[in-house]
Order: sequence, then structure tokens, then C-alpha cells
Amino acid sequence: MASTQKGWGELRSLATGERWDLRPEDLSIVRALAAGLPEHDADKHRELNAAAKRGWAVQATSTVDAHVRQRVEALERHFAWCRSALPPTAHEAVLAGHSARRHTHRGFAQRSALPETIARRAALVGTEPKRVLVLGDDDLSSLALLELGHHVTVLEIDEAIVSLTRRLARADASLELLTYDLREPLPPALNSAFDAFFADPVSGPGALRLFIARGLAALAPGGRGFVCVSEAGAASFAAVARELTVEVSEQYTDFNHYYAPDYTLAFHTSDLAIIRPRADTTLRPRPDEPFLPRGLTTEDHFPTTPASRYVFKNIDPGTSQIIHLDTMIRVLERTGRLNVVERSYFEDGGVRSYLMHTGQGGAVLVRLLPNDKVGELFVSPADSVLEEALVVVLLGVIGIAGTVVETQRVRGSSVYTMV
Ligand SMILES: C[S@@+](CC[C@H](N)C(=O)[O-])C[C@H]1O[C@@H](n2cnc3c(N)ncnc32)[C@H](O)[C@@H]1O
Repeated sequence: MASTQKGWGELRSLATGERWDLRPEDLSIVRALAAGLPEHDADKHRELNAAAKRGWAVQATSTVDAHVRQRVEALERHFAWCRSALPPTAHEAVLAGHSARRHTHRGFAQRSALPETIARRAALVGTEPKRVLVLGDDDLSSLALLELGHHVTVLEIDEAIVSLTRRLARADASLELLTYDLREPLPPALNSAFDAFFADPVSGPGALRLFIARGLAALAPGGRGFVCVSEAGAASFAAVARELTVEVSEQYTDFNHYYAPDYTLAFHTSDLAIIRPRADTTLRPRPDEPFLPRGLTTEDHFPTTPASRYVFKNIDPGTSQIIHLDTMIRVLERTGRLNVVERSYFEDGGVRSYLMHTGQGGAVLVRLLPNDKVGELFVSPADSVLEEALVVVLLGVIGIAGTVVETQRVRGSSVYTMV
């Protein structure tokens, strides 16, 4: 599994947990592997052989990785209660697609929804064949929509996703795939051409406005937009809906479940809002205008400030409860040194995690592995005053038995950050 962003990345073996840091010169090989290699491209095949020699790649007859499939299916079992109504072929197509995927591009803020979520989303479009536009599709929604008989167009900035989707879709599918940056004006042929659009933008106001304005411009009269709205993006979404004057006809709470690039469950969920243009809806930006919003995570805008990582050893498994930690964090907040705008807790396979998005646009993640007596703290972006305070809190709560902590500055961020 590869995870990359501008200038750096990592490879991880899901089978053994082993990790390799990628050098900038390795990235093109990994991207080529993720996007697939045309048979006739001898240079790329030489690169592939080089990657195989380093243990990064093996030749296989199927693109579906059984190991990944198992991991995704295990995550979906957390949501067995909402799987009964899934259209089975749509679900299977998306599950196979995600099991064939090898690459997450953090520089484009990719964090995919689970196949069960995608199948439920696609089912909301209805049973009559519709023309559907998908704005950004690392979720592989297009595969579910095609299985349900819809005509699909995808605008996606990441060539690896475009190429993966092209390989996975049936040859006779009614699918148009365009490698496209939504900041550019909308291709004129797409204006007023669709019955529905799908968008799962990052949460900043600029990114939400961009995805929503492009989607609305593409809707034919009577069309609807299906937009994912995270808790962190709720206020911005309300503001954008108000400014553009769109009707929010439905909003399903916690509809979307996501997984992280290492195939663990993501910390956040998001709502699904259904929006419709009104007679007085104003498109800002207009479809023929370029728009460069702040807050859109793209390769170029991705923050490269370092994050910090601390490892605590010999923690006391008895006291390493998130609830104790939460109490102390709230005390710290009262001192004004930490401003948490969104927090989530998660426990999986004995690992307890506590993720906080901070008012400064960064994040703090605490991971506790009581079975191994290990704790980890990530602070992104690095902030020595905040780190010092958090280390004191953690030392107090999880009881270090005198062991000095390891500290590390890491380039980019191991936790997800909004600009
Ligand atoms: C924005 S990401 C999903 C973010 C996710 N919902 C989250 O948790 O923040 C959704 C898709 O949009 C694509 N994308 C990002 N920026 C884009 C742009 N400027 N133009 C087109 N697609 C873009 C990504 O590659 C990805 O496939």
C-alpha cells in the first residue's frame, strides 16, 4: 500500500506491517504502479522490475488483492446494521475496486468511504437510468452507479484514480472519465447536462464552495446534488448553501463511513446532504471562471510544515483509558493552550485512539497500545509549547515508568491536516 504527497511518501506491507520511506526519485515508480502500466511501455517495465527487486512489487494475475479485500470487509462488519438494503452488484463492484487499489494521494486529501457507504449513496439516485456527474472519485462511486444502470461522468484530478477506474469499469460501460482540476472552468459541454452530482469535498469553505458551485452548474433543471458534509465542515456548508441560495432538501446524519490509507477505520464520519438549486441560486464562482480557493488541499497547497511524533514506552495499561485522557485534555483547553474544534475516539484491535482537530487548522492524535505498553503522540503542525503541555498531560495520565520518550520530527503529517 502506498501513500504519497508532494515530494514524499511511504510504502507499507499490509501483511507484515513493514514500512519503507519513499525517496522523491521513487515516487514516479510508485505512481506508475498505482496507475497501471501499458504493455508497450518498456521504460516503465524496467522501472517495475527495479521495484520488484526492492521487494516493492510482485507480479500477479489479478488486480484484486485478497489481503486488502479481507481488511475492507472486516471494517464493513462494523456497519452490518446498515448493509441489509445494499444493492449487491453495486457493492461488489466497489469492494473489488477498492481491493485493486494500491495508492492514496494525501496531497489530494484522499480518504475513501467504505464500499457499503458508496453502494448506499448510489442507491439514492433511484432505479431509472440517470446522468450522474462525480466530482472527485477516490471512493469509486462511479463503479456502483454504473452497476445500477446510470450514465456516469467523472472529473478527477488524480491520474492514478482515473486510470484505475478505466481498468475496472466494464468495456461497454456508459462512462466518461476526465483528468480534471475543478479549479479550472467547467468544460462547457457539461453545463446543465446532469440529473445528479456527487461530491465529497474537504471541509474548508473554499473547497466546499468550489465543488458545490461546479456541481450546481452541471445540473439540468430538476437535478439534485449529493454532498458529503463532515462535522468540521458543517458551518462552512451552511454558509455556502446560504450564499449561493440553494435548498438543502435532506440531510442524513453520519451517512458516510471512511477508512484510513492503512485500511483501519477512519476517525470521522460525515453527513450526506441532498441539495437542489432554486430559481434565485447564484453560482459563485461562475462555471466559466477559474477559482483558486484557500483551504483546498492539493499537491501544491499541502502544508509541508513538520509534525512531531513522541513515543512513550512502559505506559501503565491500567490507567491508559481515553476517558482519563479526555478529562485532562479538557483541563488543558481551559488554560488556553489548546483549542479543540472536533474530537473523536476510536478503539480497534486493542489500539485506543483519540483525534482532535485544533482551531489552528492542525490536529493532535494520541494512540495508546496498552498491550504493548506503548503510547504515541502526533502534533501537526509541530508546536513546541503545545507539545510540552501535552507530554506533561500524557505522562500524568498514562504513567510512564521512568522511561525517556523518543521524539521525532516528521515531514508532512501522519495525521490529516486542513490548510
Ligand atoms: C477531496 S477528496 C475526499 C476528501 C474526504 N471526503 C475527506 O475526508 O476530506 C475527494 C476526491 O476529490 C479529488 N480531488 C481533490 N482535489 C480536486 C480538484 N481540485 N479537482 C478534482 N478532483 C479533486 C481527490 O483526488 C479525491 O478523489
